[in-house]
Amino acid sequence: MTAQARLDEALPESQHRQSLPVTTLAAHGYIVGDVIGQGTFAIVKKAYWTKYNRTVAIKIMSKATNGGVVLQKCIPRELDVIRNLRHENIIHFYELIETTMRFYISMRYAENGSLLSLVRKEGKLPEPRVRRYYRQVVAALEYIHTAGFAHRDIKLENIVLDVNDQVKLIDFGFACRLRGENVDPSAVVKPHLSTTFCGSHAYASPELLQFKPYDPIQADIWASGVALYSLLFGRLPFSSERKTNVVLEKIGRGVRFPAEVTVTEEVQTLIKQIFVPVEKRITWPLLGRSLWFYIELEEESPGQDVQKSAPIGLDEPSDIKRRKIDNKA
Ligand SMILES: Nc1ncnc2c1ncn2[C@@H]1O[C@H](COP(=O)(O)OP(=O)(O)OP(=O)(O)O)[C@@H](O)[C@H]1O
Ligand SMILES: [Mg+2]
Repeated sequence: MTAQARLDEALPESQHRQSLPVTTLAAHGYIVGDVIGQGTFAIVKKAYWTKYNRTVAIKIMSKATNGGVVLQKCIPRELDVIRNLRHENIIHFYELIETTMRFYISMRYAENGSLLSLVRKEGKLPEPRVRRYYRQVVAALEYIHTAGFAHRDIKLENIVLDVNDQVKLIDFGFACRLRGENVDPSAVVKPHLSTTFCGSHAYASPELLQFKPYDPIQADIWASGVALYSLLFGRLPFSSERKTNVVLEKIGRGVRFPAEVTVTEEVQTLIKQIFVPVEKRITWPLLGRSLWFYIELEEESPGQDVQKSAPIGLDEPSDIKRRKIDNKA
């Protein structure tokens, strides 16, 4: 079923006509345009906000989607982040509109689209450009983690670029707080362990694939490594295979680098520090200080060194890869 159909299904015909997203948004001063994205739980449309003369993206979520899970879990998580986090590499949220059937989140429009569509279009990207994007992903993640949250759905679809080619993280529907309220302060030194197994299969860390209570910070770091590898090589590091034991076996054999692509030793070292069991995985602040971020790399001029190759495993829609095993937290 399409996201639009999901949005419409819960409404009786007469009510539906009166509360179509376009009508609701028009009442709030938005002129609704094309669909720019369709995720598992939402449809995202471009709109013109007449009040402030700007183009925005509006994420529309039906409260009834997925038997109310969206209402009970995803929307509160996304709203918690919207209200609490502000960073130059996190999408800027403008306003929230709630009707009886839907939530509308108005946010800054990222003109250059997602990193997934970029890799699908251009294939693997030149290393200096990947480094520039990855540093911004790392900056956003470090901020999110320091602020006491984890994203839990880092993937190329959820990293978008604005008109200045700056990274913005989006989609906080699986985000979590690292600690609830009234927690023993001594817990500060211990990692917060999550038992909600969410996110995309291809980006899931081995501890998550094994259904172990996991540290969501370390799971985000692993997922960022999958994004980094996919940008550099135009393919997923392990597999988009849905059989968990097959993926775990591949992970266990260690990451391999395609012989036909030349990348620096420094980025290979960083990737190897990420794709290891959680006890050995690189942590903050070491990730933010990776040697790769500081070596000399010449940034390409626009249009130069774009090597086209068909992306492998990155051409499936995200909902095929998405795996939600449990929704406890
Ligand atoms: N602010 C934005 N600017 C440009 N494109 C956007 C923006 N927000 C979302 N999109 C596009 O819409 C898609 C879906 O948005 P989002 O990830 O928030 O929805 P979702 O239903 O939660 O997705 P998922 O499949 O990860 O659950 C994104 O992958 C992206 O391509
Ligand atoms: Mg998404």
